[in-house]
Amino acid sequence: MNRINELAKGPVDLAQPVCLAEGDHAVYWVGSEEPSPFRCNAYLVVDADHRVLIDPGSTQHHFPQVRHRVEQVVPPSSITHIVVHHQDPDLCDSLPAWIEIAPDLTIVTTPRTRVLLPYYGFSPDVNWLDVSPEDSTTLDMAHGSLVFITSPFLHFPEALTTFDEATGILFSSDIGAAIEQDWKLVVDDWECHWQTMIPFHIFYMASSRALKGYLRKIEPFPITALCPQHGSIIPEIHVARALQALAELPCGLDLLYPASNIENVLAEIL
Ligand SMILES: [Fe+2]
Ligand SMILES: [Fe+2]
Repeated sequence: MNRINELAKGPVDLAQPVCLAEGDHAVYWVGSEEPSPFRCNAYLVVDADHRVLIDPGSTQHHFPQVRHRVEQVVPPSSITHIVVHHQDPDLCDSLPAWIEIAPDLTIVTTPRTRVLLPYYGFSPDVNWLDVSPEDSTTLDMAHGSLVFITSPFLHFPEALTTFDEATGILFSSDIGAAIEQDWKLVVDDWECHWQTMIPFHIFYMASSRALKGYLRKIEPFPITALCPQHGSIIPEIHVARALQALAELPCGLDLLYPASNIENVLAEIL
């Protein structure tokens, strides 16, 4: 059962793991309270024998807190999978530490991300689940599947997001992320929150074309929340307007290299 709408109402104890969905297929926020606007979220999905950690964060800034929160839910050595949505250090340079704790875990990522990750300092001879750019890869658990949806150039060329079929949560990585000083776990004021999303997307997302293409891909999925890597979780009540706002946002190359005005000039002449 999805608890995100309920969490939007009241204060949340962020010193503990926060249960976002309870039951046989449970989801927890296990991120850090880093005193930085660039603060990172990590998430944990627990379903029978599967313990899936999503974007575990950096070694220096996040690992002690993330590990502490994980171990209040499951033994860290029982982690079976780590989903890495792209290769940024704030998102995953703690991989060597997690592999040391759980050497048999499987890293779930795209091939172009896979070639980069061992540079964080671990042998590439670990278990991998390659996510197909065709979006056909799933991780099937006893009570639901994770569906892996690539998000090209948002912001890495072969970036990835994860849809959790059992809860409707979209783990959206940097898409839907916000850089904000006064942070809450779940968005309560959409208009204020959108202002904190705009600068991040303008700088990091390649183009409106890339965003629109990805948004078309996720249209068929019944999304009940966006759980990004930075900033607050966007609950169901705000999901549609968040996706609509992103679809209309010029960003990246749209702003750096605006389209030629040749059509306007021709329209005036002809
Ligand atoms: Fe990133
Ligand atoms: Fe990020």
